[in-house]
Amino acid sequence: MQRIWPTDPSDGANDSPGDAVANHLRADRVVNDRPWVMANMVASIDGAATRAGRSGSLAGPGDRVIFHALREVPDAILAGAATVRTERYRPPKPRPDGVRPRLVIVSGTLHLPADLPCFEVEDPAERPIVLTGADSPVEERERLGDVAEVLVAGDLGVEPRAALAALADRQIGVVLCEGGPRLLGQFVAKGLVDEWYLTIGAVAVLGTSSRITHLDTDVEAQFRLRSVLHDGDDLFLAYAAVRPTNSAGIRTS
Ligand SMILES: NC(=O)c1ccc[n+]([C@@H]2O[C@H](COP(=O)([O-])OP(=O)(O)OC[C@H]3O[C@@H](n4cnc5c(N)ncnc54)[C@H](OP(=O)(O)O)[C@@H]3O)[C@@H](O)[C@H]2O)c1
Repeated sequence: MQRIWPTDPSDGANDSPGDAVANHLRADRVVNDRPWVMANMVASIDGAATRAGRSGSLAGPGDRVIFHALREVPDAILAGAATVRTERYRPPKPRPDGVRPRLVIVSGTLHLPADLPCFEVEDPAERPIVLTGADSPVEERERLGDVAEVLVAGDLGVEPRAALAALADRQIGVVLCEGGPRLLGQFVAKGLVDEWYLTIGAVAVLGTSSRITHLDTDVEAQFRLRSVLHDGDDLFLAYAAVRPTNSAGIRTS
């Protein structure tokens, strides 16, 4: 893993692979009125979010290094139900400080069988949180209550700001969104992604895969490039959201 940019040698450009990753992930995460939101995604060189239906083979081993290093940062890992089902999510490993990030699953149908690997957690305090809308089936909410903490965060499906407010109520200050494209698109569209990590694997897959965000309307959100690494042919990009701030330098959106 090597840094490509920034190139200033006094800023650690010749750092070891471990330092390169640590510098890539370093950011001032300021939590104001809502949890700080990071996103991590991988894409093919032609912009696809999946290869043969999964994301794992889009890039080489460096992507796993960044994936696991990022998971050491947040209090919660947020994922759409389709990603949890397709990628067979397991409970997140504890961070170096021993705290296990909460897995937070967003679902409307609540089609989440209780024997999914993500529910294999012994400590009830570490069970996944399932965020759903008030329009979801009540009997499914009750069923899932045996294996998860089920929270309503929105009237018609989950509303992203209500979702973050519900997580803030549980002392969750930093959230890592791992997609998929339909969930991430909603957070980007509302200006709720503060920091975005993108791996570009050196493969073109063509076909009908989604891009890494998916929304039916055009929305723009501006980001600033913060760091670029490479590992072999794969690129690792770190972006920070461009945000309006008030005269005290405090983020206003
Ligand atoms: N390239 C990458 O980095 C990357 C990352 C993650 C996933 N993926 C791939 O992306 C695919 C899955 O992504 P996806 O975009 O189809 O799905 P997704 O975003 O993972 O999940 C969509 C599901 O999440 C729930 N959901 C999302 N927004 C909701 C809302 N506002 N209210 C209520 N529920 C909501 C719904 O679940 P219910 O159906 O349960 O109602 C919906 O069907 C998989 O193939 C996965 O491998 C790629």
